[in-house]
Amino acid sequence: MQLAVDREQVRRVVDGWRQSGSTIAFVPTMGNLHKGHLALISTAQSEADRVVASIYVNPTQFGEGEDYANYPRTFDDDSRSLESCGCDLLFAPGHTTVYPLGFENAIRLVAPHDLASILEGRSRPGHFDGVVSVVARLFHLVRPDLAVFGEKDFQQLLLIRRLVDDLSLPVRIVSVPTVRETSGLAMSSRNNYLDSEQRGAAASLSAVLADAASRVGRQRGNWIQVEQWAMDELSKLGFRVDYVAVRTAAELARPDVADAELRILAAAWFGDVRLIDNMKII
Ligand code: PAJ
Repeated sequence: MQLAVDREQVRRVVDGWRQSGSTIAFVPTMGNLHKGHLALISTAQSEADRVVASIYVNPTQFGEGEDYANYPRTFDDDSRSLESCGCDLLFAPGHTTVYPLGFENAIRLVAPHDLASILEGRSRPGHFDGVVSVVARLFHLVRPDLAVFGEKDFQQLLLIRRLVDDLSLPVRIVSVPTVRETSGLAMSSRNNYLDSEQRGAAASLSAVLADAASRVGRQRGNWIQVEQWAMDELSKLGFRVDYVAVRTAAELARPDVADAELRILAAAWFGDVRLIDNMKII
């Protein structure tokens, strides 16, 4: 596996591959890699000849009081995992590569209000502006043919699709279903903040969502009652619920009985840790 830390290095490698006719897939991450990230690498390998993974903890997507400073940084382990998966290039830029003029002078994108002000965006104002801004920057640095994102961050995935469509970026977006622990807990770097007992208890977030999803599935018009049921269940189990929402899968709008493709999404605090999860309603 090769390593690039700035624009010249990443361009040299990627341009070389492109000249020899290879297609390039890109997997952006913030590191602290787990099996969820590695599933994205594996999908990337099946979709393109060469795979670039990036590790960059992007300050502009963290709000005040969020965990930017404490976000787990495990570069050596991550690099070994990527190498053993057969990733071709690790791009690990510093701030001056991603934001050459500094954060204050940087051009920033504003994520569209309809998708970015609800759910995660309501609880984390500005978060998606930071995400679309950094992903656009990374796309311009790497210039991949396609990029792979996880359904774990479902709202982020929709916003990335919107970014690419709206700015006509020549990048195909591929999504990968959420990878879970055997307990059902969606894998996340933030699970590292939980001890093993808390992890067991936190798994009930996915169990309640799965139960709620099947309750909506049977009787689609009842989604408001199901949201309330799931919030009550989670509160009883010791979560502090931020939201449980049944939404259309395409736009995260409140559903109509006629809407076929629905998703249930949730965020809840378990102790000091904010967990998110979502599932398809079948
Ligand atoms: P990060 O949280 O590191 O996630 C990187 C990618 O891994 C995202 O596409 C995310 O959805 C995916 N992912 C995380 N956990 C997963 C799981 N359990 N199963 C499947 N996929 C999973 O998301 C970000 O970083 C950042 O916002 C980023 C896009 C890199 C921009 O800074």
